[in-house]
Amino acid sequence: MRVSIFGTGYVGLVTGACFAEVGNDVICVDVNADKIEQLNRGEMPIYEPGLESMVARNRAEGRLQFTTDAQAAVQHGEFQFIAVGTPPDEDGSADLRHVLSVADTIATWMDDERVIVDKSTVPVGTADRVREAVGRRLHERGARVPYAVVSNPEFLKEGAAIDDFMKPERVIVGCDDAVAREKLHSLYAPFNRNHDRLISMDVRSAELTKYAANAMLATKISFMNELANIADRVGADIERVRIGIGADPRIGYHFIYPGAGYGGSCFPKDVQALARTAHDVDYVPQLLQAVEEVNDRQKHYLFNRLREHFGGDLAGRRFALWGLAFKPNTDDMREAASRRLMESLWEAGAAVQAFDPKAMDEARRLYGDRPGFTLCDSPEAALEGCDALVILTEWNQFRSPDFDLIRARLNEPVIVDGRNLYDPAVLAGLGFHYYAIGRPPVVPGNAGELA
Ligand code: UDX
Repeated sequence: MRVSIFGTGYVGLVTGACFAEVGNDVICVDVNADKIEQLNRGEMPIYEPGLESMVARNRAEGRLQFTTDAQAAVQHGEFQFIAVGTPPDEDGSADLRHVLSVADTIATWMDDERVIVDKSTVPVGTADRVREAVGRRLHERGARVPYAVVSNPEFLKEGAAIDDFMKPERVIVGCDDAVAREKLHSLYAPFNRNHDRLISMDVRSAELTKYAANAMLATKISFMNELANIADRVGADIERVRIGIGADPRIGYHFIYPGAGYGGSCFPKDVQALARTAHDVDYVPQLLQAVEEVNDRQKHYLFNRLREHFGGDLAGRRFALWGLAFKPNTDDMREAASRRLMESLWEAGAAVQAFDPKAMDEARRLYGDRPGFTLCDSPEAALEGCDALVILTEWNQFRSPDFDLIRARLNEPVIVDGRNLYDPAVLAGLGFHYYAIGRPPVVPGNAGELA
């Protein structure tokens, strides 16, 4: 089938590559000419495992093209996917400018039947606005071309995007048009494993499903972070509590890891946008507001730990940071906990030496040669001359480091772990001060209540 995709961000690029991979003829279009040039040189604008080779293979075999030519893209695809960004407005609602501008572009050039698919995460009611925008432009052109607008939100996770797309747990299709639904059913058929993954519903329910999923996951995380804060104060260990509650299949072990606060391009933005939608329909979303507030507070947790340890004053101190990306296997630093921590440290007069396996270029782009910020070539180099090590992202390479070397390089043997990677009893035995999230702190030679 012929597929056109507007937007070569995370969702657009992965969607385009995966549709080509199963044999479709795909054109990806973007208004950013530099990005298209880069893609045409075979370079990926983002780091995502498996993406580069999949793109290369499908380009070589002629099933995947990148262009800035919107007209050609509209004329190419029987499916027109909208996968452009929906950044938050000042009030937290999603900015639909890009989505509506693509709708207008599609309507400007289409001269044959088209299925227009919203893949961007968009507020409830957006498909109606897309339908209106297309209808308006067609009317202005005096053109009578049939079209359907479908909501097909994407649930892929960064760092596992290809796998999530190729083996989806579900494909949500919100559609009021039976013919368009059947077409999407055929387009997604190659991704069914064992059973049909397509769940069909009305457009508004599909739009809300995406927000509901992300808000539920964000709620689980904020819930655990809240419990971790309570655990701190009552002298319990959240890791034991996590294992204890996760055993109940109604709760489960997924997404109940406490941490330094969730980040990324989805949870913070989507929780806010859903809360905004609720306000717009005169409903006060108390739980969603709390989810966001707890997350905001959590992003200060590590800074507060450091400040307490160093007697309230961090001026002139230097800290090693392991992990800058908002989670492992990505170079994405959007809303990452590392950013809030570094900004607080700089404000307090401290300096940072950081290492991340993939997000170094992104960090350079964001903070450049800001005073108090040094990027180091290796985790070990980042430790040199620092007063403490702070772990922010649970990259595998940080899971079992050489603790003797860490102790030797640091000015003081202090580890502040925002991902609960290590065994407190082991670190206490090795002579560290070890602070984790929601676990009793340990001091050298004393594993405290954890022994
Ligand atoms: C998320 C959803 O998982 C995905 O389905 C949706 O399409 C987009 O948003 P993503 O943002 O890529 O995906 O990352 P995810 O793996 O969900 O992690 C989000 C944040 O939550 C990260 O900062 C992560 O560290 C944090 N997190 C996750 C926790 O703090 N604890 C957990 O138990 C799980």
